Amino acid sequence: MSATKRVAIARLLLPAGRDLLTEEFEVTDGGLVSTRAEVLELVQGASAIVTDPAVPVDAELLDAAGDQLEVVANYAVGFDNIDLKACRERGVVATNTPDVLTNATAELAVGLTIAAARNTSDAERRMRAGEWTGWDPADYLGFELSGATIGVVGMGRIGQRYAELMQGFAGGFLYVSRQPKELVEVKLGARKVELEVLLAESDVVSLHLPATPENHHIINARSLAMMKETAILVNTGRGGLVDSDALAAALETGQIGAAGLDVYEGEPALPESLLKAPRTALLPHIGSATFKSRDDMARLVARNVIAVLSGEEPPTPIPG
Ligand code: GLV
Repeated sequence: MSATKRVAIARLLLPAGRDLLTEEFEVTDGGLVSTRAEVLELVQGASAIVTDPAVPVDAELLDAAGDQLEVVANYAVGFDNIDLKACRERGVVATNTPDVLTNATAELAVGLTIAAARNTSDAERRMRAGEWTGWDPADYLGFELSGATIGVVGMGRIGQRYAELMQGFAGGFLYVSRQPKELVEVKLGARKVELEVLLAESDVVSLHLPATPENHHIINARSLAMMKETAILVNTGRGGLVDSDALAAALETGQIGAAGLDVYEGEPALPESLLKAPRTALLPHIGSATFKSRDDMARLVARNVIAVLSGEEPPTPIPG
């Protein structure tokens, strides 16, 4: 009988997935606070590594695991933490968790859109601090969303679901995408435009792009200058899509209206400039954090690992 294969969970996998793995494999866990050195040690001899957005998967990690490594299963849909070329060169399959978090992430983007438009974070903070002195016709004023032109940058699964959910508010939809998306054009009357047009004409700009080198700082000082003074920027994609200092400056000077953010460059460290920026709703990367989604993601991680270690095609390999 061959030896039981080992699965190294670099940080944490919820029981919905972990329990499936322990039925077939030896499982070792790094834990949420594991250091890079601990992860490098943990993965030695593993046939599978379970990673997440906080675990850089590079040549060093893959080599630390060794030649028996067959699969890196990311507990996330985004895979900017993974060096896919390094995986390919070593014959290691990389997988992610699309679809099962689409609703959760799109719903949070809607929530952030409303929170930013109405500045609810600041209102709650001030109320909790005992600063509420009663109904005030001139305080806590925000932007109304009804009739707004909604600009969706990146019309993939999450972008499309966000647009669908925003339908009740929208006066119209603009979108940026490499491929035209017939469904949203027919169903929502969305119009595919160049980014510059979307920035200039949208009341809400919501980012649903992968963090590729081409998309790095797609929102920067120049693009912010093209936006309306009342525009709301929402980012539930990845922090690297936005130049945060430029965004903070645009909020300070009133160049744009408000921002709702769930992701940050270099997270969990937060840029000081954004912490101080006005009319900004900030959340700690919780786009996919519903009970259902995180369990479904965990199960998909396990199914990917089990498939590869059984010599089968995984359900959701990272394309490319
Ligand atoms: C979370 O950020 C994900 O990419 O799934």
